[in-house]
Amino acid sequence: MKGMNSIRTGTALMTMRSLAIDTDEDISSTRPNCRLVSTHSPASIERLQMANNFEHTPVLASEVVDLFADLPVGVLVDATLGGGGHAELLLDAAPESRLIGIDRDVVARHAAGERLARFGERVRIVPGTFGDLVGILERESGFVNGAPIVGILADLGVSSPQLDDAARGFSFRSDAPLDMRMDQTSGMTAAEFLLEVDAQELTRLLREHGEGRFAGAISRSIISSAPRTTSELVAAVERAVPPAARRRGHVATRVFQALRVSVNDEESQLDSMLESAIAHVSAGGVVVVISYHSGEDKVVKKVFATAATGGCTCPSELGCVCGAVPIMRVLKASAVLATSDEIERNPRSRSARLRAAWKLSA
Ligand SMILES: C[S@@+](CC[C@H](N)C(=O)[O-])C[C@H]1O[C@@H](n2cnc3c(N)ncnc32)[C@H](O)[C@@H]1O
Repeated sequence: MKGMNSIRTGTALMTMRSLAIDTDEDISSTRPNCRLVSTHSPASIERLQMANNFEHTPVLASEVVDLFADLPVGVLVDATLGGGGHAELLLDAAPESRLIGIDRDVVARHAAGERLARFGERVRIVPGTFGDLVGILERESGFVNGAPIVGILADLGVSSPQLDDAARGFSFRSDAPLDMRMDQTSGMTAAEFLLEVDAQELTRLLREHGEGRFAGAISRSIISSAPRTTSELVAAVERAVPPAARRRGHVATRVFQALRVSVNDEESQLDSMLESAIAHVSAGGVVVVISYHSGEDKVVKKVFATAATGGCTCPSELGCVCGAVPIMRVLKASAVLATSDEIERNPRSRSARLRAAWKLSA
């Protein structure tokens, strides 16, 4: 498929204008003097402009840099590259290491390509999903070149520009087509998903995302109205929840979150990424995950705890008699949260929960 080439940032600092882009992804090559291809579609020009305006403040940045300090030289993986904010800090802090950055969103990859261009051959930006971490590492074996994978970061969820770009349909604050795909080149939009899902399944999804006694009524209201825009979805939710019963915050918050998680298959992506990250990080290396809702954080906590005990469930007073072998050491039982200073500077950090674990030697 055209547009599936990975981006390789060149040694020359290229502005987005100097890159040849004629499809979603073809910001090809390290050629320093690429000319602007005249066949830009209006959509690709718009994406480029957005990449230039990509503003996302990395969350828990100094905590992440500290956790990656003292690692051996090797390859770092930023599984959720976004605009490259964390990646830039990590590359500056580890001048001899290289970094693979993964993102499923073309706008993010363009923005990161620009931001990280100064690191030249130390960076490889690849399209794809972090659930396919194993496949990506295999395909990037030339770049890895036998070096250990010493650190893996996943800063989950969506970026500020994804939320702020009304046309992406992630936000209930503005009217837009109900899309919600992080990768707009594949998969079902949220509107299409709502035409496929049945009320029982939708109710289950809403309950999983914290919607309580109105989950059934909301599902039926949504399914009967088949919303095609964010405003139509909000109206369907409002019809199902009496004003007096609405909780703090927007009545549709949980519905939007549940839909986004389903449309982007976020749960199975996370499971698969955690398993692969633990398997592929080298001894002494670190896996750091920042999540933004309690469901995700519970999964990360559980997977790290299982790796730290080797799956042992022997009663603690007896000690382990089952022979389970721990493979990770976790930073601490509770998650690291943003300080009040950071929350004031960057309100998005309010819901961030960071967990980290180091791979033990075999
Ligand atoms: C919170 S932002 C990361 C921001 C980044 N740490 C920074 O400092 O700029 C999350 C990014 O991960 C991407 N993403 C989310 N789920 C993904 C997945 N399963 N595979 C690949 N990218 C994903 C989103 O498209 C988004 O750009």
